[in-house]
Amino acid sequence: MTTTPLAIGIHDLAVATASSVVELDDLAARAGIDPAKFRIGLGQEQMSVPGQDEDIVTMGAAAAQRILDRHGADGIRTVFFATETGIDQSRAAGVHVHELLGLPRSVRVVELKQACYAATAAMQAAAGLIARNPEERVLVIASDVARYDLDSAAEPTQGAGAVAFLVSADPALAVLEPIGGLYTAEIDDFWRPNDSVTAVVDGKLSVSAYIDGFTGAWDDFRARGGVDVTEIDRFCHHQPFTKMAVKAHRALAEHTGVELAPELVALTTGYNRRIGNSYTASLYIALAALLDGAGGNDDDLTGARIGMFSYGSGSVSEFFTLVVQPGYRAATRGDETAALLDARSRVDVDSYRELHALAHRDSTVDVEIAPDSPGEFHFTGITGRARRYSRG
Ligand code: COA
Repeated sequence: MTTTPLAIGIHDLAVATASSVVELDDLAARAGIDPAKFRIGLGQEQMSVPGQDEDIVTMGAAAAQRILDRHGADGIRTVFFATETGIDQSRAAGVHVHELLGLPRSVRVVELKQACYAATAAMQAAAGLIARNPEERVLVIASDVARYDLDSAAEPTQGAGAVAFLVSADPALAVLEPIGGLYTAEIDDFWRPNDSVTAVVDGKLSVSAYIDGFTGAWDDFRARGGVDVTEIDRFCHHQPFTKMAVKAHRALAEHTGVELAPELVALTTGYNRRIGNSYTASLYIALAALLDGAGGNDDDLTGARIGMFSYGSGSVSEFFTLVVQPGYRAATRGDETAALLDARSRVDVDSYRELHALAHRDSTVDVEIAPDSPGEFHFTGITGRARRYSRG
């Protein structure tokens, strides 16, 4: 007797970001750079900037709250929090989110780290838990603040964002296909030492390492029986800047010798162009943009196979595929995300630079931060060396 494999995948997802935004045209004007370099050369228009009372916890909680509002917490026994901008060396940032959201005590919370890749590791681990018990659902939260040195080449590729998604059996949004391709290589392209709030990056090396990771993961995907490139309808990539997805798409065409239309990737960039790099969340924000039609795409993607490329510097790469489920666009997701992007307050370059300087907080100095941002969740300061949060 044969049994049908259990369909496991993404049931719903929600995006959140910081409440302030810098126009990259303003940054270009300040630096005396042609704004076309950022808009066209990098494919970026804006970058979200967290206020003093915002961080990975507040953004992650905001995204997860929308998932809980729509689906409740029944069946959730695991929260995976993926980030590469962790706020503590020991406690998972997700434990603060667990408290803010009032999740049951009978839920485990763990943080995962491998640069921008960790949300994909979380999704795969979630799928394993659900294969063992299909009644369970796993809440994955990916939340990051991309912060580089002021006046560096990487500065216009900063950003801040979070995504929360529910992994379940019989998902409403997209089914995760079983074959994935992997590629790991130790490389010094990007990392963040424990004593630094900004990442250390060799930008040019990171671009070539990303491409090598992509083609390497692709080759492993094919070797394990993954579908031919012509059987993939759309491609979503990790987007440290959206032009990176275009570069990767071209590289895959060259690698496979198959012409791949630019449209297959263009419709995934609508949110990331405005949020900037959100590290672990970026790939899943690209997926949200595609499913929401954020690039003005009205195609019905029901049944479409999406190739997903996840890259985390240092480096770990994974290529896998999702199949879009009927009714995937029924949720109010797209309108909510568009509204929160539009609602951000524009800050000038001087104000952004002040916020950047405040990113480093000495945990030995107690500080109280008055809630200021319009969101529901706030970082309220440090007492007794511990970070404090509030809701409402
Ligand atoms: N109009 C249009 N395009 C312009 C331009 C102009 N006036 N001036 C420059 N450009 C283009 C360049 O031709 C280049 O395009 P290409 O990559 O398609 O050749 C692009 O803008 C970037 O300019 P370049 O001078 O090559 O790079 P940079 O020194 O500004 O650095 C990064 C770019 C991505 C390396 C840098 O932003 C960085 O380090 N980012 C962080 C790391 C990162 O995101 N890595 C990605 C993999 S994880």
